[in-house]
Amino acid sequence: MTRKIIAVIGATGAQGGGLVRAALEDPQGGFSVRAITRRPAEAKGAELQKAGAEVVGADLDDRDSLSRAFAGADCAYCVTNFWEHFSPERELAQAKNLAQAAKAAGVGHVIWSTLEDTRRRVPLDDPRMPTLKGEYKVPHFDAKGFADAFFREAAVPTTFLLTSFYWDNLIHFGMGPAKGADGRLAFVLPMADQKLPGIAVEDIGRCAYGIFKRGAELAGRTVGIAGEHLTGAEMAAGLSRALEREVAYSYVPPEVYRTFDFPGADDLGNMFQYNRDFATEFCAARDLGFARSVNPRLQTFAQWLERNKSRIPVG
Ligand SMILES: NC(=O)c1ccc[n+]([C@@H]2O[C@H](COP(=O)([O-])OP(=O)(O)OC[C@H]3O[C@@H](n4cnc5c(N)ncnc54)[C@H](OP(=O)(O)O)[C@@H]3O)[C@@H](O)[C@H]2O)c1
Repeated sequence: MTRKIIAVIGATGAQGGGLVRAALEDPQGGFSVRAITRRPAEAKGAELQKAGAEVVGADLDDRDSLSRAFAGADCAYCVTNFWEHFSPERELAQAKNLAQAAKAAGVGHVIWSTLEDTRRRVPLDDPRMPTLKGEYKVPHFDAKGFADAFFREAAVPTTFLLTSFYWDNLIHFGMGPAKGADGRLAFVLPMADQKLPGIAVEDIGRCAYGIFKRGAELAGRTVGIAGEHLTGAEMAAGLSRALEREVAYSYVPPEVYRTFDFPGADDLGNMFQYNRDFATEFCAARDLGFARSVNPRLQTFAQWLERNKSRIPVG
């Protein structure tokens, strides 16, 4: 059987790693995996090779290396990592490299892991949230959304995949429940009583795999995925059940979240404000039914918690 090749950017990371595993777990699926990393000779590259992927080196900052890595591929999963450099300009340049390399290599179906350009709803002169880095409201969203145009301009058949808040942030991003001044455990989210679309990050890769399996019918479309749309209070209730300890929901307004002392707090404060104030549109763009249709194993928050509760640091 001739297998279609899926080239995966971010194969050593969360989104791409989930896609690699989904494809390798389905040997009858008709796809083989080309895992792309800057450091193919290091441990994660060796692990991917052992798991059955072809491993090749390329760098998002080097378009020619991407063209070589995409050569002969039928599909390509394209993701950038804003949090490695905090530069929307660099993320834009990397996305342009991806679009142009996919075009040069003649890739038949690209998935671009994108997010909304929030400036469409909150223009730069809108005083509701501060403008950041000169010309952005939510830099790590705006750059990805703006970059959609690069894939359209390159005329590469692309599915624009709107991802959601990773529940895994509770494990890796210090967002697990922490003890408040009153000694009670609290889960902090700047969402008031609005719903936040969330997902197990492993399911992003599984959905991407389902989208590649569906193929051309989804090219040219923007699709959104989430495991559930939940309020902070609903997430806190889920945490209480899973951890068997009372966890209260603590609403911290975005204005306060922006002042927190960690890099990118202003960007994330604006992001939560956007998610809160446009919750109806933000949730509507992430259809649970669609996500389940491309990934029947889609997890709910309760299912994700059952598997991951022991990994959540509780402060
Ligand atoms: N956290 C959330 O809730 C959330 C939600 C939606 C979207 N996102 C977005 O997700 C993106 C990050 O994706 P992730 O979580 O899958 O990342 P991750 O787990 O942190 O891994 C980053 C991946 O990107 C690759 N990479 C980074 N820079 C590269 C470069 N210059 N050349 C080639 N590969 C490069 C890395 O590969 P090597 O190191 O092996 O080269 C690695 O595989 C961010 O842009 C973020 O905005 C996050």
